[in-house]
Amino acid sequence: MHALLELAALAHIVRSSCIPANKPHFDWDDTQYLIAFGDSYTFVQGSAGYPNYSFIGSYLPNQFSFTPDTLLTSSIIQNFTATAEGGPNWVEYLTGCGLKNNTRPSTCDIQLWDFAFAGADVAEEFLPLHHNYTVPLVNQTQQYLTYAEPVIGKKMNKGRALVAVWIGINDVNDSVKQLVGVSLKEFWDTLVATVFKETVQPMYDAGYRNFLFVNLPPLDRTSANQKLAAPRPNKEEVGWWNSALEMHRKRFAQAHPKAKTMLYNANAFLNGVMDNPGKYGIKNTTDYCAAYNQLDVLTTPEKYGCLPLDQYFWYNSGHL
Ligand SMILES: *[C@@H]1O[C@H](CO)[C@@H](O)[C@H](O)[C@H]1NC(C)=O
Ligand SMILES: *[C@@H]1O[C@H](CO)[C@@H](O)[C@H](O)[C@H]1NC(C)=O
Ligand SMILES: *[C@@H]1O[C@H](CO)[C@@H](O)[C@H](O)[C@H]1NC(C)=O
Ligand SMILES: *[C@@H]1O[C@H](CO)[C@@H](O)[C@H](O)[C@H]1NC(C)=O
Ligand SMILES: *[C@@H]1O[C@H](CO)[C@@H](O)[C@H](O)[C@H]1NC(C)=O
Ligand SMILES: *[C@@H]1O[C@H](CO)[C@@H](O)[C@H](O)[C@H]1NC(C)=O
Ligand SMILES: *[C@@H]1O[C@H](CO)[C@@H](O)[C@H](O)[C@H]1NC(C)=O
Repeated sequence: MHALLELAALAHIVRSSCIPANKPHFDWDDTQYLIAFGDSYTFVQGSAGYPNYSFIGSYLPNQFSFTPDTLLTSSIIQNFTATAEGGPNWVEYLTGCGLKNNTRPSTCDIQLWDFAFAGADVAEEFLPLHHNYTVPLVNQTQQYLTYAEPVIGKKMNKGRALVAVWIGINDVNDSVKQLVGVSLKEFWDTLVATVFKETVQPMYDAGYRNFLFVNLPPLDRTSANQKLAAPRPNKEEVGWWNSALEMHRKRFAQAHPKAKTMLYNANAFLNGVMDNPGKYGIKNTTDYCAAYNQLDVLTTPEKYGCLPLDQYFWYNSGHL
């Protein structure tokens, strides 16, 4: 939620700064569409989605495609289990779309078309799927471009669309657990290159020009990692992914002068919150409430020996 406020501040800076006329220009106040790709941090629940994982469809053979009607009638569900955060997530706060239960994106002032899938990695060729229904990032883009672009994209003023990509959390977590004898720095550089080749470039080719990237949160400071002498991923490893993201973003921007690419440094912001929790009303940065998934923990946290959930930095083992 706090990161969202920072994002709103970012949008303010972006819109109020003086931008030379020949530079690509992005104005949040003119934005009418947010198209999101990513993992559990970003997914929203749709009535036509895989329960607890997506807005629409899944990777199962008969659930990858969808009809125009299904797309247009899938509503964003808002309840305790409809995000990985126990309530609205950053794309819902940022757009205001889906804060109320049962919202069709097309009815929102800023339409949220969210193809993020909980548990997603970048691509199946690099790391195994979490489940046979998990849609990897590069396939989320294919799903959007194949089945949604002809229905909603064709009608969009793409100067007023922002494409948001927040990915890597599962890739990094899976890599440190599953891979041995691999140079993670090189491996992750290849993964980030794939994000640009198979997600950003195809969206650019379809006419989208505004891109927002979010880097990795302090995964080196999860509750479990704080208790380890040698956390995995460690701070340097998280930095490898984030450096690769920034390098490829700049490279893409240089090769595509008409693209506006922006990075939100979630890592710096969230490390700042952990270092200065009081400023944000956060009292506990070391642990999470073990009863985070109990519906009544929202109203009676003391029943579980917990503080109100919004006073914890961590929601659970991997989410904010
Ligand atoms: C969704 O997640 C919640 C909380 O973990 C769980 O109680 C519920 O059974 C899940 N729903 C489905 C359909 O799996
Ligand atoms: C949230 O909504 C989903 C889909 O409508 C439903 O299956 C689930 O039971 C609801 N959960 C809660 C905690 O209200
Ligand atoms: C949200 O809307 C869904 C779909 O209409 C409904 O099943 C669910 O009960 C609603 N949840 C809440 C918490 O009102
Ligand atoms: C997906 O995995 C589940 C559980 O392992 C299995 O029952 C199901 O048959 C699989 N579906 C497909 C299409 O492979
Ligand atoms: C997912 O993307 C990969 C890489 O482009 C591709 O090889 C694979 O066929 C895609 N899967 C589906 C179901 O389209
Ligand atoms: C943080 O929260 C956990 C879980 O509720 C609790 O066990 C722990 O004592 C708390 N730590 C501090 C410093 O309050
Ligand atoms: C990393 O993986 C572990 C399970 O191995 C899981 O408990 C944790 O939530 C994951 N962390 C993130 C940030 O996804």
